[in-house]
This record gives sequence, structure tokens and C-alpha cells, in this order.
Amino acid sequence: MQSRELKLARHPRGKVRSDDFALEVVTVPEELGPGDILVRNSWLSIDPSVRMRLGPTGPAGYLPPFRIGDTLAGLAVGEVIRSRANGFEPGDTVLHINGFRDFAVIREDGDTLAGAGGVTKLDTSEHPPQSYLGALGSSGLTAYVGLQCIGELTGGDVVWISSAAGAVGSLAAQIARLRGHYVVGSTGSAEKVRFLSEELGLDAAFDYHTPDLADALAGAAPDGIDLYFDNVGGTHLQAALYHLRRGGRVAMAGAVASYETEVTGPNNLFQIVAKNLTVKGFRAGAYDHLLGDMRAEVGSYLRDGRLVAAETVFDGLESAPDAIIAMLGGRTVGKTLCRLG
Ligand SMILES: NC(=O)c1ccc[n+]([C@@H]2O[C@H](COP(=O)([O-])OP(=O)(O)OC[C@H]3O[C@@H](n4cnc5c(N)ncnc54)[C@H](OP(=O)(O)O)[C@@H]3O)[C@@H](O)[C@H]2O)c1
Repeated sequence: MQSRELKLARHPRGKVRSDDFALEVVTVPEELGPGDILVRNSWLSIDPSVRMRLGPTGPAGYLPPFRIGDTLAGLAVGEVIRSRANGFEPGDTVLHINGFRDFAVIREDGDTLAGAGGVTKLDTSEHPPQSYLGALGSSGLTAYVGLQCIGELTGGDVVWISSAAGAVGSLAAQIARLRGHYVVGSTGSAEKVRFLSEELGLDAAFDYHTPDLADALAGAAPDGIDLYFDNVGGTHLQAALYHLRRGGRVAMAGAVASYETEVTGPNNLFQIVAKNLTVKGFRAGAYDHLLGDMRAEVGSYLRDGRLVAAETVFDGLESAPDAIIAMLGGRTVGKTLCRLG
């Protein structure tokens, strides 16, 4: 059987370009080994983290970089076509990490992305399959863990969320708002600011393309913030450190500003000492055991129509490079997905 796979053709220099990738036709083995599952992928998750694996070297301690000619990996949802693994039948919908290809042969005990995406059967009776990549998947878990476990969100906290119109940010912002907090969101365009205020109902929102980020934050939260949910790093983190109240927390989910461009770090780290701040990073894959708790909360908001699960959908595996470029360039809203087949 023939399949197409998206491979790394060369390491990007600076911003990713579509010719950094190559779509290749490969032959998928007809015979499955014991424990193997043949899956036809239907949805791919397009995540900023893929950018950190495209260079010749990656951040220390993170997932290893792809080599030239490697097929990209990433979270995906698909349908089981054939199975020699116990508990998986043709027609099942599964989550796994062998995205960026039409068909995947997955081992039942195969790899994960630092704990995320071990092959799992999904119940799609109530929510659409792609929601297990977004609101009910890794994006939802990152938002939930960042607020709950890392940020230790408590009553009365004022929260700032950066990249608030994105997959993780839009969920974190809404969860905090639905729990009754004053929530400020920042993003990269006037249209997205409108989305935050009018569609997500945030208390305040601003465009970070402003001469003084700290001023914009002070305007949105005049009495300071208690929790900064950081998706961006760099000058955003610097503004947060100035504006956090005593005993405040930073939950560091990511630093997207530095994935394609070199950024200068915060110049005010002493604020962490001066104000007894806690700054803590995390990877959601280490908190997979909380998926059930997250799905109970987020699933109930979705059921009641109280949470907007925005998606930007690209069609076809051939559109995956454009999806990556658009997502990193701020031209997508909510969860960025690629629909196959
Ligand atoms: N820790 C974990 O386990 C975990 C898991 C998933 C994701 N993450 C991290 O969470 C963050 C958000 O991920 P996501 O999947 O939700 O992506 P996303 O927010 O949907 O997409 C990335 C967004 O980042 C913004 N951005 C790009 N360059 C920027 C810059 N220089 N300054 C400010 N904003 C910039 C853009 O939106 P604008 O229009 O707003 O600029 C872009 O759309 C990323 O840092 C990601 O690495 C962490």
C-alpha cells in the first residue's frame, strides 16, 4: 500500500519555508507484526514544538531534532484499518504520535512525545475526533496543568495569558474566566484582540505590538497580576515580572518568541527575588494522569456551550508546511489542524 509522508528536506534558516519540507511516497508494509496497528490518519495537530526539532540541534533536554530525510512526528488522530494489537479493532479511532503521514504503522507499546500521545482508543460519541488534539487533548491538558498545578490558581487571582488566541492560550484564558477570575489576554493583531474580547469574553485584551508592553499590561490590569501563563517568553516575561504582585507565579508553558528568532531575555530577574515570585516550567506530557480530570472540566464546558473551541483547519497533508508557517506567523486562531483524506 502506498502512503505519503512529510519529511525534513533541509534545516530552516530563520523562518520556516515550505521548501524546507518534502512530501514523499512510501510503501506501507501489507503484513503487520504482532502488536502492530495500521492507522489511516484523519487529523494532524500542528504545534509550535515541531519548530524546535527542525534545526540541526535542538534545546537541551528537549525532544531530539529531526535529521534530514526523517519523517516528521506529531500528535494525530486516525482510524484503525487493521490490527494485531489486543484491544484495537478496525474502525476504532485512536490518538498517537505518528502524524505527518497518510498511513501509519504503530506499535501498541510505541513511543510517546515525552509522555504524551501513547496510542489510545478514543470515544468520539460526544466530541469530534479532532477535539482530542485540541480542547480535550494536549492543548487542553497544557492549559489545565499550567493553571491548576503550576500556577496554583486560587480565588481572586488576576491572570495574564500570552498568545491568548492560540490553542493553549485560548483554553487557559477561558478556563480561568469560567472559574471566575479576571483574565487579561494578549495577542498579535486587532482582529485577534476582538476575538478575545467579544468571542471569548475576556476582561481585557491587547495587541503586544505596542511600544511598551509593560504599559499595555498595566492598562489592562491596573492593580497588577497574580499569575502569568507564559506561552511567549522574552519581553512578555519581562513585562510580567514587573507587573506581578508579591507572591505571584509564572507558569511557563513555552517561549514561542524564541523558536524562530533570537530574543533577548528578561533584564529584571531580580524581581523574582524582590517579590517572592515563583517561576516554574512544565511539560504537559508529565501530567498525562490528569487527562481525565481535565476532560471532566473542559468536557462539561463544551457540553454546555460555555467554551469556544476555535480551530483553524488546513486540508491535505500537502498543506502541513503552510499550516506550520501560518501558525508560527500568527495567522491562525485557536487550534491549528490539518485534515487528511
Ligand atoms: N509545555 C507544554 O507541554 C506545551 C504543550 C503545548 C504547547 N506548548 C507551548 O505553548 C505555547 C502555545 O502553543 P499553541 O499550540 O497554543 O500555539 P498557538 O498559540 O496556537 O500558536 C502559536 C502562536 O504564537 C504567537 N507568536 C508567534 N511568534 C510570536 C512572538 N514573537 N511573540 C508573541 N507571540 C508570538 C502567534 O500568535 P499571535 O498572533 O498572538 O502572535 C502564533 O499563532 C507555545 O509556546 C508552545 O510551545 C507547551
